[in-house]
Amino acid sequence: MKNFLTKFQRLSKYLSPTAGESFLHLEPLINKTISPKDALYPVYKKDNTERNYFVSGLRQLASFDHLLHQYSGKRLAECRSIIDFACHYGRILRCLRAALPSGKLYACDIDREAVEFCVKEFGCLPLYGSWNLEDMIIDNQHDFIFCISLLTHTRKEYFSKALKRWETMLQPGGLLLFTYLGEDYIDEWISGRLDHYVPSPVDKVTLQSKVAEFQKFGHTFQGYTTGYSKTDDYGIGFLNKDLIESELKAHATLKLRDVISGFENKFSQDLAVVLKL
Ligand SMILES: C[S@@+](CC[C@H](N)C(=O)[O-])C[C@H]1O[C@@H](n2cnc3c(N)ncnc32)[C@H](O)[C@@H]1O
Repeated sequence: MKNFLTKFQRLSKYLSPTAGESFLHLEPLINKTISPKDALYPVYKKDNTERNYFVSGLRQLASFDHLLHQYSGKRLAECRSIIDFACHYGRILRCLRAALPSGKLYACDIDREAVEFCVKEFGCLPLYGSWNLEDMIIDNQHDFIFCISLLTHTRKEYFSKALKRWETMLQPGGLLLFTYLGEDYIDEWISGRLDHYVPSPVDKVTLQSKVAEFQKFGHTFQGYTTGYSKTDDYGIGFLNKDLIESELKAHATLKLRDVISGFENKFSQDLAVVLKL
């Protein structure tokens, strides 16, 4: 009886989470299967911080929960349909599955194997990404979409197209969170502290011209030929806040509610919070 009550109390605490809820207690429930194709896990492993691969996801769930509550009035546990846009091999989805055992979670990525891994391991629904966002099959609307570390790697033109698509994918009252590299990250790029984002660092002359481009136009991008794109559409990209604001203004039902500096959040990239009216 004592054990039953403890379990029951834990469950009811989870079902009615309080503001500032931590999700760290879910660590033992996470499916820790790692795909050999996962490019992120080895980065943690190299630094002997494998546990942070899982813990970082749980800490980010707490941020999601807090921002959902603050801006859409909903808790994570109340979301009926969630998309991890650019989910890779499920660093965050495995945490979400531990938090929401019967939640409707969509795994979206251009890497079909990544999507299939998340479907098999974490019981997600598949959503296959495409550079041509109109090709994506969208059959219903969702109340929470998050996109961590994709716009960090793409051109401004992709950002514009993604916003258009996300607007149709979100249901009214739904929340969109995306990370990107804003003006404060230009110095990080110059200093080489972002070199882990790209296959090879850019040479000094190109770097100078890209920085000048950013200062003039509010965005810049350096592409690489990668498995994600043969046409250099994937690389490292920067967007300033004015541009984020002006792009969002073009979408009548999307409202930028907050931008949280990557130096103050748990994503190490700037985070935009957008509400669909
Ligand atoms: C840096 S990883 C994302 C990591 C993941 N969101 C996380 O926080 O653990 C970038 C992911 O974007 C995916 N990707 C690249 N281009 C894409 C596109 N056009 N549409 C959707 N996903 C894309 C890649 O396959 C890769 O899994």
